[in-house]
Amino acid sequence: MLITLEGIDGSGKSTLYRGLEERLADVNPLFTREPGSPYLGEAVRRAIAENNDPLAEAALFVADHAVHLATVVRPALEEGRLVISDRYSDSRFAYQQVSLKGYHENPKQWLTAVHSRWSIVPDITFLLLISPKNALARLGDRGEKEHFEQEEFLEEVQKNYLDRMSENPNRFILVDAELPAETILDFVEKSIRERINKQ
Ligand code: TYD
Repeated sequence: MLITLEGIDGSGKSTLYRGLEERLADVNPLFTREPGSPYLGEAVRRAIAENNDPLAEAALFVADHAVHLATVVRPALEEGRLVISDRYSDSRFAYQQVSLKGYHENPKQWLTAVHSRWSIVPDITFLLLISPKNALARLGDRGEKEHFEQEEFLEEVQKNYLDRMSENPNRFILVDAELPAETILDFVEKSIRERINKQ
């Protein structure tokens, strides 16, 4: 089973991820993330930091996904393990639909085409919803900001996440990311355990 965690920067995904690592240790899931595949992770980080070509950046995110799938996700799923990924393909549909505006006539169509046939669709996606203003305030004291971390940009990203959710209502579970971290963790842990027990 493949579970993904999605949400804008500052939505608390990393805190949730760390909490799940502790809480679900008995299930022995494989915890992983995008970007960060074995040999492309560094190139993606560099593309984000340099911020000079959205198309190159988008292509690297896709390549990172392909390597992630081939080397990490697919082998673990074939072994029957639970895989939990901090960001996955919905991040591309949410972020690159904004960053590719003007670089591609129809970013959504391109993203759909580029993922079709080989990518694996998650079984469940938890979407952490928060106002971009509050999300950015949380990121406030983290030092230098990535180019994605702008209020208007994140407003659009979040809208794309919500569109994606309305197109895939059975896969998405919406989480109010303004709730206390412990409440969120309790809810997500319970939802995952229920799903595992139903299998
Ligand atoms: P990351 O450092 O993992 O940020 P976070 O801790 O918020 O998850 O990811 C870097 C940035 O890359 C983040 O702002 C989201 C963005 N991103 C995309 O634009 N497209 C993608 O496909 C992925 C996986 C991430």
